[in-house]
Amino acid sequence: MSAAVSFSGPGRDCALCPRLADFIAGHRAAQPDWHNAPVPSFGPLTAGLLVVGLAPGLRGANRTGRPFTGDYAGELLYPALLKFGLADGQFRADPQDGLRLLSARITNAVRCVPPENKPTPLEQKTCRPFLKDEIASMPRLRVILALGRIAHDAVLSTLGLRKADYAFAHGARHSLPGGLVLADTYHTSRYNVNTGRLTVEMFETVMAGLLPALQKNAG
Ligand code: URA
Repeated sequence: MSAAVSFSGPGRDCALCPRLADFIAGHRAAQPDWHNAPVPSFGPLTAGLLVVGLAPGLRGANRTGRPFTGDYAGELLYPALLKFGLADGQFRADPQDGLRLLSARITNAVRCVPPENKPTPLEQKTCRPFLKDEIASMPRLRVILALGRIAHDAVLSTLGLRKADYAFAHGARHSLPGGLVLADTYHTSRYNVNTGRLTVEMFETVMAGLLPALQKNAG
């Protein structure tokens, strides 16, 4: 038995969320050189780790077309992936920087940029089938790292699990039915870092705690 190792997310002109499609259309007109479309996940489907963010940042992933690339949110994430051997190369906040993800893949709970970084509950729900398909397309997936509560809730809903049974907490690792681990961290946003809610050390501690479960998956 082998699970599917292919996945295609929303098409470039996905119109499932009219507000988000309109928002993107406005930016296509104003910024024709930007990606301005659903942002595809980054990294191999054979990875053991799936990092789930919130949604593309306007001048970050929505501009560059790679998750967590081009705004502050990647500045903590990518160096940590490099430090713990889950990526190689150099992170230069540019999709052409040559950085490769090895046993990690990065996606977002909502794949289109939302106004003010705030997807509505309906938009979160509408985008969920893509996350569901993506998880089902990762045959060696062991750990899902949720960056923030919205990502955490999206993973639980996607897997048909009750939020009340798995409370979001920075540093928490939840064992899910079927053997997956759901790990939580505060989002790597500039706001969280500037306010001291999340430090490099706190984030690296979370990442280091994932390695035993990921190593079990290797080979
Ligand atoms: N960029 C992303 O791709 N996702 C986030 O959650 C934040 C910035």
